[in-house]
Amino acid sequence: MEISKVKELVAGMTLEEKASLCSGLDFWHTKGVERMGIPSVMVSDGPHGLRKQEKRGDHLGLNDSIKAVCFPAGCAIAAGFSRKTAARLGELLGEECQVENISTILGPAMNIKRSPLCGRNFEYYSEDPFLAAEIGTAYVNAVQSRNVGTSPKHFMANNQEYHRMTSSSDMDERTAREIYLAAFEGMVKNAKPWTIMNSYNKLNGTYLCENKEILTDVLRKEWGFDGYVMTDWGAMNRRVEALKAGCNLEMPGGSSVTDAQIVQAVKDGELEEMVLDQSCEELLHIVFRYVENRKEDALFDREKDHEAARELEEECIVLLKNEGDILPLSKEKKVALIGKYAAAPRYQGDGSSHINSFRVDSALETLKEWADVVYAQGYDDAEDVIDEAMLREAVETARNAEAAVIFAGLPDSFESEGYDRKHLRMPDCQNRLIEEVAKVQPNTIVVLHNGAPVEMPWIAEVKAVVEAYLGGQAVGSAVANVLYGKVNPSGRLPETFPLRLQDTPCYLNYGGERDKVIYSEGVFVGYRYYESREMPVLFPFGYGLSYTTFAYSNLTIEKDSIQESETVKITVDVTNTGTCMGKEVVQLYVGKKGGSIVRPIRELRAFDKIELNPGETKTVEFTLDSRAFAYWETEIHDWFVESGAYEIQIGRSASEIILSKEIRVEGEKTIPKVYTRNSTVGEVMADPKSRRILEAMGKEMNMGESIAAMADSQGGAGVISKEMVAAMMEGMPLRSVMMFMPGLKPEMLEQLINALNGK
Ligand code: BGC
Repeated sequence: MEISKVKELVAGMTLEEKASLCSGLDFWHTKGVERMGIPSVMVSDGPHGLRKQEKRGDHLGLNDSIKAVCFPAGCAIAAGFSRKTAARLGELLGEECQVENISTILGPAMNIKRSPLCGRNFEYYSEDPFLAAEIGTAYVNAVQSRNVGTSPKHFMANNQEYHRMTSSSDMDERTAREIYLAAFEGMVKNAKPWTIMNSYNKLNGTYLCENKEILTDVLRKEWGFDGYVMTDWGAMNRRVEALKAGCNLEMPGGSSVTDAQIVQAVKDGELEEMVLDQSCEELLHIVFRYVENRKEDALFDREKDHEAARELEEECIVLLKNEGDILPLSKEKKVALIGKYAAAPRYQGDGSSHINSFRVDSALETLKEWADVVYAQGYDDAEDVIDEAMLREAVETARNAEAAVIFAGLPDSFESEGYDRKHLRMPDCQNRLIEEVAKVQPNTIVVLHNGAPVEMPWIAEVKAVVEAYLGGQAVGSAVANVLYGKVNPSGRLPETFPLRLQDTPCYLNYGGERDKVIYSEGVFVGYRYYESREMPVLFPFGYGLSYTTFAYSNLTIEKDSIQESETVKITVDVTNTGTCMGKEVVQLYVGKKGGSIVRPIRELRAFDKIELNPGETKTVEFTLDSRAFAYWETEIHDWFVESGAYEIQIGRSASEIILSKEIRVEGEKTIPKVYTRNSTVGEVMADPKSRRILEAMGKEMNMGESIAAMADSQGGAGVISKEMVAAMMEGMPLRSVMMFMPGLKPEMLEQLINALNGK
């Protein structure tokens, strides 16, 4: 509907109708206004399948929802490292929404994985904002191409489950911009989501639903968002403040108490009616966008979508270890499948994203059809207790086979929406099982079903590890295809697997104190931290193996140096040097050499996933713009490119850089400098113009001689080293320079400062 018509509609509504439109009808519907022909529409979770509740609604996944298809969760989709994979998921979801008459799917969930402890990491994409934004962009564009809305969530800085409804994520401006907002920024600018869901928590003390700076200044004015903002379920704090800040819709609905508060606020002059009108207009614009593009005759074939769920997961499985090329397995070998998850995989997480899957594939069921397999349960995941009888049976089954594949991971009780993990361990009963099996079976392989990194104390004892993540309802057949080589694995880790929890950047302050979480690690999240500190990790960001091998050559940068406003093309050749078809994820990182700001040693700025036949070479091309070189400069509250040399690094992962080359970038913005009495000599000397002014004055006042005299009085010339004098001078504020220039009068100092400031 044209915006002028929407405006007309809103102009015809009563104050009460308008206030009421800005809260939901019930758990899953917006309100309609019958007399005005305004329909009520449904929204539904999300993000990796439809959780459409037809009867009793809840936001915790307690009551039943319709039978649907559970696709791979966010953790897996990001491991696909493929825009195409994320887009395919989006298209399927968009089509399913049209069939089920869902106007907006509540996803994608794209919060940064600040710590592997976050209970909801299984729904989120990455520790890296660029990867999260790219995957989110592809998903949102694809869903919306089917004329269904998305609600990227949880905007923003919702990086833990503990006290998610009251805690404040406290961080500096640069950290917010470069990490926590950046994940959403790329997606908002490139995909224009119809809606956004604000998070439960506060940012630096202000609830996100009332955060005008974030919801209006950044989201709407800077990034151009033109949809509506809805609260997370129950995230509303003060309704009137929220409207003023740019939050349109309170969800869920069902109570008219807060509607009445809005009416009263308008009557009292506390809230301008214009603000309410605008909120209604933004909301209705989206409601009608769906209604007017509704495809009544849309159909979907669940079986087909199940096949698609398998294909998606096949893109996302990450091969972490493959000693002696034990994988792929041969059908002729007798293989013991061990562990409950072989028969009943853990393929999704608990909470609001929980899908009522119409069918689930297990590896056992699949492999019984076409391979020589035997099975032993090995453990139960209801409780973490070692069942000695089950363990013995598993060990014997493994001993009598030619290889053992243990299906392990995290049970729901170890990771879920609602609470955070306490440690990175898998259940003791599973770790023990792996250790005991590996003692009797030299060809032991572990398949993991988990939504976030785990410690692997047995890593040296097993030959192979396959990370399946929470891979959706077809995970079992997808894993079977990877194990036996029908599919060559091509996923890459979208997060670092640390060696120990104590190594993680926010180890000391995750969870916070008294509902305050200080993000003191700043921009050093995930690999930005481990790589900058040169710390060993279990598996780095971007890592993943293949059944083939790839060689990189011919890194070329179009130009040796560019201006900030120019773009630059970078190419690299990649060759499949093995014997089977495979997919490689080519990763481009940028690092600043030298520089005056502390920055991560490298940051992912581009990537591409390509498919290569044996012997085939492809040239991969990337185009970088200024953002690839920029950091957030708090002096100017803007992105800033520091002039100087940058390194373009092509890597197999964040810790394996294969090729690199330098480029010089000339920044075009300046940081205005205002000198004060407390500006240091070093600051002044760093700028050639100011340096000249200070040097001239220093000469006039015989500063050099005064310093020598001071050195004498401090214990004799020659005792104080030149280096020490230089260091002292560098850090000395102008006001203290008077110490060396007894003739310098306070008014002369003022004159100096004025001269430095160009007055
Ligand atoms: C979750 C959201 C979800 C909503 C509705 C909340 O508890 O945080 O992600 O979309 O419930 O189920």
